[in-house]
Amino acid sequence: MSDPVVYLNGEYLALSNAHISILDRGFIFGDGVYEVIPAYGGHPFRINHHLQRLDNSLSAIRIKNPLTHSQWQAAIEHLIELNQLDDQSIYLQVTRGVAPRDHRFPEQSQPTIVIMTNTLKTVSAEKVRQGVAAVTLADNRWLKCHIKSISLLPNVLLRQEAQDHNADEAILIRNGYATEGAASNLFIVQQQCIITPPKGPMLLPGVTRDLVVHIARNKKICVKEQPITEAELMQASEIWITSSTKEILPVTKLNDKLVGNGQPGSLWQEMYLSYQDYKEHLRSGRALPEL
Ligand SMILES: Cc1ncc(COP(=O)(O)O)c(C=O)c1O
Repeated sequence: MSDPVVYLNGEYLALSNAHISILDRGFIFGDGVYEVIPAYGGHPFRINHHLQRLDNSLSAIRIKNPLTHSQWQAAIEHLIELNQLDDQSIYLQVTRGVAPRDHRFPEQSQPTIVIMTNTLKTVSAEKVRQGVAAVTLADNRWLKCHIKSISLLPNVLLRQEAQDHNADEAILIRNGYATEGAASNLFIVQQQCIITPPKGPMLLPGVTRDLVVHIARNKKICVKEQPITEAELMQASEIWITSSTKEILPVTKLNDKLVGNGQPGSLWQEMYLSYQDYKEHLRSGRALPEL
């Protein structure tokens, strides 16, 4: 669609008519937070989890959520209807609003709210089948990575550096431990047990990560939320990265070495099928599997 409809501060506008001030603190300071929510067959994926994480990010940067959850949900659903794409990726952003440039919070400002939607870009079937390459890079981001901040310059640079090495993702290492990807969470398999780093300020609590942990526990697969050393990462029999758009993606090459036998592993296969099943329930409007 050449000129999709977007939501800006309560109005539904053609993208070409939606404008914000250059004094918006999102533009000037990256002073805001965001969410990316996939929608399958018009149904947003785990919307309550995304809205809960939005609340957490907003309160961490001391912005009062300008909308209630039901207002968010109504706006998102209306925008999905207006744009009528197949599967969609909904991007929403809240900034501290427009004010004269000053690092301190303005005494009064109205948060800027943007919601837009695009066709969901999925990972190619070939990459899912063969797995992707990743490189390890030093995690040089800030110490509040649990906030889904729009200040993404370190993530942008890290992802580009991965790309420069012909890799799809950077797996980040801080103080000898793997934290997450530049835009994804990390899982490894060690002796048939799935391991992902525990939540905390060093990583974003991914909605997909949580779903993967739930699905695995439901299937009585061994899951541990514990730190992963760089050495454990290097010796893992399987490595996966997860995100709302990548879903569960196997990493089959790390720093030019094969992971396991270089093929997506059997636990990945099992988890991938369950995840697709969950998605299909959502897409067709059937009751979701109990999790
Ligand atoms: C740094 C980072 N970690 C993890 C994730 C995965 O989060 P989610 O599964 O909620 O998409 C993202 C998603 O963009 C991210 O940017």
